Amino acid sequence: MQIKDLKKTFAALFGDGEVQLFFAPGRINLIGEHTDYNGGYVFPCAITKGTYALAARRTDRNIRMYSMNFPDYPIISFDLEDLTFAEKHDWANYPKGMILKLLETGYDISSGVDVLFYGNIPNGAGLSSSASIELVTGVMLEHLFHLSIDRVDMVKLGQKVENEFIGVNSGIMDQFAIGMGRQDHGILLDCHTLVYEYAPLHLENDTLLIMNTNKERTLASSKYNERREECESALRDLQNYIDIKTLGALAPKEFEELKEHIKNPVTARRAAHAVHENQRTKLSLKRLKEGNLQGFGQLMNESHVSLRDDYEVTGTELDTLVEAAWKQEGLIGARMTGAGFGGCAIAIVKSDKVDAFRKKVAAHYKNIVGYEPSIYEAKAGDGAKRLTGEVVIQ
Ligand code: GLA
Repeated sequence: MQIKDLKKTFAALFGDGEVQLFFAPGRINLIGEHTDYNGGYVFPCAITKGTYALAARRTDRNIRMYSMNFPDYPIISFDLEDLTFAEKHDWANYPKGMILKLLETGYDISSGVDVLFYGNIPNGAGLSSSASIELVTGVMLEHLFHLSIDRVDMVKLGQKVENEFIGVNSGIMDQFAIGMGRQDHGILLDCHTLVYEYAPLHLENDTLLIMNTNKERTLASSKYNERREECESALRDLQNYIDIKTLGALAPKEFEELKEHIKNPVTARRAAHAVHENQRTKLSLKRLKEGNLQGFGQLMNESHVSLRDDYEVTGTELDTLVEAAWKQEGLIGARMTGAGFGGCAIAIVKSDKVDAFRKKVAAHYKNIVGYEPSIYEAKAGDGAKRLTGEVVIQ
């Protein structure tokens, strides 16, 4: 797919408008999983694949949207005055929710738009295609209507779309990574204070891989909300003994001393993951700064074990993929990434071993699971922005 193809499709669907092009990436999380809504640290990066939006202002109050990723849906059309969630609008509820949140915040979207979306991250693969379409909608409206939107505010509005419009009680990580990403950098973010730091990813002789299980993330949102409630329940038990606002405020040692007060053994394991994962995430940056990539990889592996055994969000597909990765020559570290329940894992592998790694992991996975995974290189890219000049879709 190239930009000229998008332009042709736009013209065929909407006529010859004065179009502008926008992009928002997907994201992977290097480490710090299920810590964001627990007030802990995350360490994601934006990737170079994501969602493109080609858009033009209209003179009336009508919004018309089409996604090349959902060709079974016709052009979806609604007025700026009717921004209610509609089951039949399916994927378009994400951009619709973003328009609503911007209007509710007081931004002046003075007319309708025609917009064509095209994404090259797979939907539902856990690379945040939904946050990507939210943020591309945000930058699109920001430019088309000359709004001045603080980027972190835009990120927070994206999270509100998920929480209040879609009904997933997700944290801030995805929208933050997608809104604030920087080429060749990860972002260490304290989700309690939103203080963040960019960390250069020096992977000179190593390669970062995305390994997609190609398993659809069914039931992901209900299980996700359930994990969040389990953590909140553990926190309430602990609050009878210590004055904390989030699990992220607890050092591992404090947690170990207090954990017996958590009444339910299942919620205690969920909390154990949140606390120790938070510690691993903080340590990760330290190891990267020391140039200790191997040590960083070790923390990735420990993160997966904790997500598998204590948080229980991996499942056969992710475990098969990651456990096969651990056995390969040249492996630095591998773990699931994102919410889990299917979706993607990541691995850092010595570059000269990548070809053999891909073949062996894919063959093993197919043998056990019955179908192929997709394994490809990931590069840390920039956050959501307007694109000008010569643009090549990667
Ligand atoms: C999803 C959510 C994020 C985060 C991760 C798990 O991607 O949207 O907020 O909680 O899961 O780390």
